[in-house]
Amino acid sequence: MKVGVPTEIKTDEYRVALTPIGARELAEHGHDVIVQKGAGEGSAVSDADYEAQGVTIVPGAEDVWGEAEMVLKVKEPQTVEVEMLREETTLFTYLHLAPAPELTKGLCDTGAICIAYETVEGANGGLPLLAPMSEIAGKIATQAGAFMLEKPLGGRGVLLGGVPGVAAANVMIIGGGAVGMNAAFIAIGMEADVFVYDKSVDRLRELDIIFGGRASTVFSSTLSIEERLPDIDLVIGGVLVHGARAPHVISREQLGLMKPSTVLVDVAIDQGGCFETSKPTTHSDPTYEVDGIIHYCVANMPGAVPITSTYALTNATLPYTLALADEGVVGAVGRIPGLKPGINVAKGKVTHSAVAEGVGMDYSPPEEVLDFEMPQNGSRDGAGDDAARAMPGSH
Ligand SMILES: NC(=O)c1ccc[n+]([C@@H]2O[C@H](COP(=O)([O-])OP(=O)(O)OC[C@H]3O[C@@H](n4cnc5c(N)ncnc54)[C@H](O)[C@@H]3O)[C@@H](O)[C@H]2O)c1
Repeated sequence: MKVGVPTEIKTDEYRVALTPIGARELAEHGHDVIVQKGAGEGSAVSDADYEAQGVTIVPGAEDVWGEAEMVLKVKEPQTVEVEMLREETTLFTYLHLAPAPELTKGLCDTGAICIAYETVEGANGGLPLLAPMSEIAGKIATQAGAFMLEKPLGGRGVLLGGVPGVAAANVMIIGGGAVGMNAAFIAIGMEADVFVYDKSVDRLRELDIIFGGRASTVFSSTLSIEERLPDIDLVIGGVLVHGARAPHVISREQLGLMKPSTVLVDVAIDQGGCFETSKPTTHSDPTYEVDGIIHYCVANMPGAVPITSTYALTNATLPYTLALADEGVVGAVGRIPGLKPGINVAKGKVTHSAVAEGVGMDYSPPEEVLDFEMPQNGSRDGAGDDAARAMPGSH
């Protein structure tokens, strides 16, 4: 299969979807890889690094989109990219379609198969291709929040960890998944007082053991959030309902309960945002103010640390990329059942139910659209192991 990698064009996006490590593995499996000139530069990967692993460097994005049978990307395709996406192509990237009806319709119009990293499921229903970026975004969320709390940046002027004789800041983290747990690790490390909210008691139970008493866990509800908001300096939002638009956990009215210049970091902005007043921002202009509250809503937070993020992302995506290149979409889904929920759009139809609900379009099961049957033993459990088995050296 011819696999192509264009340069990312979203504002302040420096990641690339494939490293020389991945290029080498694809070559070992007999595939041709084409990479747009300069695509790796933002992540300190040169064209020569790719060429040394057998990659053909092509001059423009149109060469990648025009020739590749599978296009690997990081962020959702921008309008000019959707225009270049061909019906025969498989697109494998982050999509975050639930809050994006226009993009969803654009992708449907191409007729291509579009597989979203963030809805691929691993063992026990986890999200193996979202997790590495969530770990990074969670860590950045606390760093960025601590920075924005500084007075010259618009914050309250509070040091997260306090000093002897002066209390530490209070940090509320809503959503205790990969983002929330990692945000908490950094906040604990910075010696803040940390409160992690989640709707899942089982998850709170796990976190309670992981934190070993260094952070409080709280069952998330309108009242439990509202009661603590007046004491909080930094709120980090990292809730997720798989594939769906983020639920609003703080309303505009509730901003009035908070101290002036409190900082809100909405990591869930890529799924539409979990605060009513959130709207996407960029690394170049990350914050804005609503009712005296500072909002940080950067939609591609890991893009700021591309050297870490590119490798973390491609370590996770590579087994799936290899399976898709080796066997095509239907064959790969047969081998790795967790890829099936990754299929968001195919042949003009929306093939993920939560995405369909989010964008107000009809849902069509991927089995029907692509005409395949899931194997009898195709359970989600073990999908991660199946993906790992696609790696060389293990088969
Ligand atoms: N902005 C960025 O650059 C960036 C980067 C990575 C991830 N993200 C986003 O961060 C969000 C979180 O990702 P994750 O990997 O941590 O997800 P996750 O599935 O690991 O965790 C989400 C948690 O939210 C909890 N939850 C769901 N609804 C809730 C509610 N109403 N109140 C409280 N808790 C609730 C769930 O129980 C779960 O524990 C996603 O939207 C993801 O796309 C954004």
